[in-house]
Amino acid sequence: MKKIIIDTDPGIDDAMAIHLAFAHPDLEVVGLTSIFGNVHVPIATRNALALAEMAGSDCPVAEGAETPLVQPQHPPGYFVHGDDGFGNSGVIEPKGGKDPRGAAQFIVDSINAHPGEITLCPIGPLTNIALALRLDPSIASKTAGVVVMGGAVETPGNVTEYAEANIWHDPHAAAEVFATDWPMTLIGLDVTEVVRCTPEDFDALEATSPRIGSFLNRAVQFYFEWHRTKPHYAHGPFEGCFMHDPSAVLAITNPEFFTFRETPIVVETDGERIGQTARASQGVPVKVALEVDAQAVRAAFLKFTSQADSQRG
Ligand code: RIB
Ligand code: CA
Repeated sequence: MKKIIIDTDPGIDDAMAIHLAFAHPDLEVVGLTSIFGNVHVPIATRNALALAEMAGSDCPVAEGAETPLVQPQHPPGYFVHGDDGFGNSGVIEPKGGKDPRGAAQFIVDSINAHPGEITLCPIGPLTNIALALRLDPSIASKTAGVVVMGGAVETPGNVTEYAEANIWHDPHAAAEVFATDWPMTLIGLDVTEVVRCTPEDFDALEATSPRIGSFLNRAVQFYFEWHRTKPHYAHGPFEGCFMHDPSAVLAITNPEFFTFRETPIVVETDGERIGQTARASQGVPVKVALEVDAQAVRAAFLKFTSQADSQRG
């Protein structure tokens, strides 16, 4: 079992990733930390608590930053994830409350309590991760790994032609995280826009996991609509959706599904290309996923998430 903390801005594909993680037999979700991005952070916290309770997990949920480190906050991605973050499928009010600690403190405490055992899986802007490193820089040497959904290295961005959303929302935090000497893996648009699921896939999920599968199938309809009608810099409209965040979770359990290149990455923090993640000649090497066995990732997502109802998170 690998211990993971998912830093998340739920978010429809975040919800898929979180239910995948709770259902996966090889993962122990130590906690969720919320961040702004797809929604404002109070909604992200509410949604993270709701997802944990839906999965039958009592793991802590710690609330993260409300705003980026330096730049003003960009408007949330409501046009992709809905006002409620779940594709306007309906607000789910959690019964429990958030952890008394903030996200950065929770991340630092967890890593110090389990040195060398915890993999961080940020699937939203990297503000909380940067703040945790500022709070206790020593966690860099005690973290088993950092597997980030974000960036676009050899493919265009999805918010601008240069920037992917998670980096664009806080490029200064991303720059600090990418400059840290720790075992970091980048699961960016280079691979996550190759991994796709279809409406039929989520219909099948609903059939095999009536409770959680039907929630995901309701939430994903809004996400399908966005993929049908909005052009992408690298891809035209299509029937289905990109599996951004679930791909990062499966990079932890099945790195063999991906082909990586070790390279330093520089993050642009101003100008027209702000939020760009480009290969650099100097700096800390990052394992960048450039190719993926997309069918293997899709099959693993469907296999484990189809068991979500019967697994305790
Ligand atoms: O660019 C895709 C990323 O931005 C995903 O994590 C999605 O949830 C949004 O946060
Ligand atoms: Ca996300």
